[in-house]
Amino acid sequence: LTLDLLLIPLAYLIGSISFAVVVSKCMRLPDPHTYGSGNPGATNVLRTGNKKAAVLTLIGDALKGYFAVMLARHILGDQSLTASLNSWLLCGVVIAVFLGHLFPVFHGFKGGKGVATACGILFGINWILGLATLATWIIVAKFMRYSSLAAIAAAIFGPVYFVFLFGFQPMGIALLIVCFLLIWRHHSNIQNLMNGTESRIGSKKETQ
Ligand code: G3P
Repeated sequence: LTLDLLLIPLAYLIGSISFAVVVSKCMRLPDPHTYGSGNPGATNVLRTGNKKAAVLTLIGDALKGYFAVMLARHILGDQSLTASLNSWLLCGVVIAVFLGHLFPVFHGFKGGKGVATACGILFGINWILGLATLATWIIVAKFMRYSSLAAIAAAIFGPVYFVFLFGFQPMGIALLIVCFLLIWRHHSNIQNLMNGTESRIGSKKETQ
């Protein structure tokens, strides 16, 4: 068990890799902290007009959440869903990889809002849970054209789907913490949504 505890700092380190920053550097795009919302995330990278960079950021940030959960499930041995939902250590891994994305040690603790990473985490726990939450994001994004609003809606519905699918389990508490953190990180988006200045998906308008 003691060695297993190392999974938590490892998950934090995995989460600390900001794909918005890495992809932007590789593709010679400006640092995402310097334009648009200033957020190192796929939505903001899309504001450069480079769709490929935005998609790569999205995939990278989602995969790190997925990978951290799958790696922990593999190392912990019992990969069954029931065991995973009950594992406090896995709960710690989920929160750690998410906190890594929000406060990355490799990027001066200036991280993102956690949407793609949370999505990857959900898929790592259970693909139906991941798919239902992703579908919620897609539907809201398609009709409202606000990435942030879609993320907030998905963050509210994610734990609801979890309880609906699996009942009350320790993992539900971890996901609730992730969802609270995610919504808290969107405080400036919420303000912009309320005063009508939030930028729509793909628009290059400054939101800071
Ligand atoms: O992925 C984060 C998204 O929900 C909002 O991003 O850049 O519009 O603040 P942004």
